[in-house]
Amino acid sequence: MIKESLDAIISEVEKHAPNLKNRADFDAFKSTISGPKGKLTELMKLMGKVPKEKKPEMGKAINLAKQSIQNILGQVIVSIEENELISQLGPPIDPTLPSPDLPKGHLHPISQVRDVMVGLFNRIGFAVAEGTEIETEYYCFDALNIPADHPARDMQDSYFMSKSSFVSNVSKNSNERYLLRTHTSSVQIRTLLEEKPPIRIVAPGRCFRRDTPDATHSANFHQIEGLYVDRNVTLTDLKATLDHFVREVFGSTAKTRLRPSFFPFTEPSFEMDFYSPDLGKLSNQWIEIMGCGMVDPNVFKSVGIDSDIYSGFAFGIGIERIAMILQGVDDIRNYYQNDIRFLRQFLGYTS
Ligand code: PHE
Repeated sequence: MIKESLDAIISEVEKHAPNLKNRADFDAFKSTISGPKGKLTELMKLMGKVPKEKKPEMGKAINLAKQSIQNILGQVIVSIEENELISQLGPPIDPTLPSPDLPKGHLHPISQVRDVMVGLFNRIGFAVAEGTEIETEYYCFDALNIPADHPARDMQDSYFMSKSSFVSNVSKNSNERYLLRTHTSSVQIRTLLEEKPPIRIVAPGRCFRRDTPDATHSANFHQIEGLYVDRNVTLTDLKATLDHFVREVFGSTAKTRLRPSFFPFTEPSFEMDFYSPDLGKLSNQWIEIMGCGMVDPNVFKSVGIDSDIYSGFAFGIGIERIAMILQGVDDIRNYYQNDIRFLRQFLGYTS
């Protein structure tokens, strides 16, 4: 009698449960079976009346029935939950399709300014050269006439790697250390060792210095290095090249000024300032934008070029500096935070 009723409950569950489409219907149905007044619960109450010798058999039958009801209901609730999730996620998407959002992706504002600058140097005969972001002390310092006791070599100023580290595409001497390059001037050496004069290159790239980040300093920034080596290259050539650069970027009313400075790899060395009557808030003041100078004979010596025959100039421009002026950005950190609201302002920016 009890067994038949159990079978009837199981077949009812088998028949109805798979048709339940949502959690409320599921819960309602479940309570008609195993709720306080459910059919299975009522049946279990009858156990008290079963004669003692039949109890084990009945108990077993009830447990088996409970088990199979639980299995069926378990499967049904899993599929209800799956459907709930699917409806929360919405219709299926194809992630390989182009984004329907406008504007479409574009180059980072720093890359855009880099391209404008590299483009203008390309047009006056400078080819693009590349180095590596991980450098050896030789390329970053020694060959550039930067002595071992120079502060740039201090752990406080540069990011050195441990002596045991090994980078497969950058060869080094066993007693040298790798570091993240502190300037793109290392590309001067890589180029001078590979090519014969005349050499005319620009090397855009990322540089790293230990710095406490603030509105105008970042531990990671970008430079464009320039190098021109040939017979009879003079300071006039440097000045004319930089004048051209500044007028192309900031307009024909911009003026330049070379201020004496010091870099171990150039002699004489200068900081170049520019001045424009046409720059909004920054109008009518001298603004420092790069270091430059004539290649030091010691640099030529370290790469085996005869400085009695050849001379050259070099310059290093901070890209962020130029970008901030051109784009009216007053905090360098904006460039690295990748906030889409900031980046979207530079869609189609050219100069
Ligand atoms: N490497 C120098 C710097 O990072 C800039 C520079 C480059 C100066 C080339 C002179 C010549 O400050």
